[in-house]
Amino acid sequence: MPERTDLQGRHIVLGLTGGIACYKSAELVRLLTKAGATVQVVMTEAAEAFITPVTLQALSGRPVVSSQWDAREPNNMAHINLSREADAIVIAPASADFMAKLVQGRADELLSLMCLARPRERCPLLVAPAMNREMWSHPATQRNAQALLQDGAHVLGPGSGDQACGEVGDGRMLEPAELLDELIAFFQPKVLQGQRLLITAGPTFEPIDPVRGITNHSSGKMGFALARAAQEAGAQVTLVAGPVHLPTPRGVARINVMTALQMFDAVLPLAAQNDVFIATAAVADWRPASLSEHKIKKEGKKVAPTFELTENPDILAAVAQVPQGPYCVGFAAESERLLEHARAKLQRKGIPLIIGNLGPATFGRDDNALLVVDAQTHHALPADGSPTDKLTLARALMAELAQRLQAVAP
Ligand code: CTP
Repeated sequence: MPERTDLQGRHIVLGLTGGIACYKSAELVRLLTKAGATVQVVMTEAAEAFITPVTLQALSGRPVVSSQWDAREPNNMAHINLSREADAIVIAPASADFMAKLVQGRADELLSLMCLARPRERCPLLVAPAMNREMWSHPATQRNAQALLQDGAHVLGPGSGDQACGEVGDGRMLEPAELLDELIAFFQPKVLQGQRLLITAGPTFEPIDPVRGITNHSSGKMGFALARAAQEAGAQVTLVAGPVHLPTPRGVARINVMTALQMFDAVLPLAAQNDVFIATAAVADWRPASLSEHKIKKEGKKVAPTFELTENPDILAAVAQVPQGPYCVGFAAESERLLEHARAKLQRKGIPLIIGNLGPATFGRDDNALLVVDAQTHHALPADGSPTDKLTLARALMAELAQRLQAVAP
């Protein structure tokens, strides 16, 4: 898979404060730079007790700054210079003490001084708390976290689980990969803010007996990419997934199902509560009419068994019939005459928009080329028709969807 550079051109000031999670910040620097960002590390004295500036300089390719008296700055105003260049300041880890300092607007060392002096309208502050669970749950820290939100900062996490002290609970810093995803999402345009999206993804598995079944090659990648892109765009997302082993995108509510009937039962009750339904799942059109309770044995059989099939409900067509239902988007995987088949499907299912792609070549791949088809128009995505990675396509589809929702808004 080609490396993603979602943070290309972004300059991040990464502040480290005192906490054992400082060791994870080294990995975070690596991930941020791999994603295309330039990273300037600023450390407090307490952070330097946990990890050396040498490590962070080596990983970021820039000398670490830790004092407001740093004579390397020609005007001796590191707090101003650093925050004027930054697209965001990320404090990871943010100790309980540092959060309290931010809330009080204290400025007795470089990092807090810089946060206070930053131009708030163009340099957002993202804070990733990291502390013992008792410290995190203490009313003082909870008050501080609320106050930070009120002051316009963004609080990332914290996560939950094993803590360095041996206790278990809330307060762990998010993992570096999670922080990276949070930051990438943070910079995406919020074109679907407040919208609720319901998405199906992956194949279904229709059991024949306890060990066998009928399924297909759908990887679920397009549906998962759409769920991620929708969440990044500010939507509240529910993803109903067939049997795939893909990680759930951050902030997305996932419901796992096996069969088409289970998918139908999961989707239909949620349909009216959502603004948009996107059906990317490759739902099996038929299922075995009866399920054998025990494994069908070969032993003692002279002829191969035959199976009677029965039709599965069409989930998309059913959602399209829901009164005051969501705006429905279908997917059409075709092997030829894409536009013709996609438009016929659009009409047959009674939906306003369908996305065509030429399968099965796209199944399991990380890139795709789409054809966006409505009742009157169609266009290729991307415009030149060249295969593009599914997350980039998904983000472009969200922008397109936002425009279409505006056009049909009452
Ligand atoms: N779909 C669905 N429920 C089904 C079958 C399909 O929700 N039981 C949705 C798919 O998620 C997709 C769209 O309908 O968004 C198109 O599915 P497809 O199987 O390609 O269409 P069919 O109507 O089954 O047509 P055909 O198999 O003849 O191509």
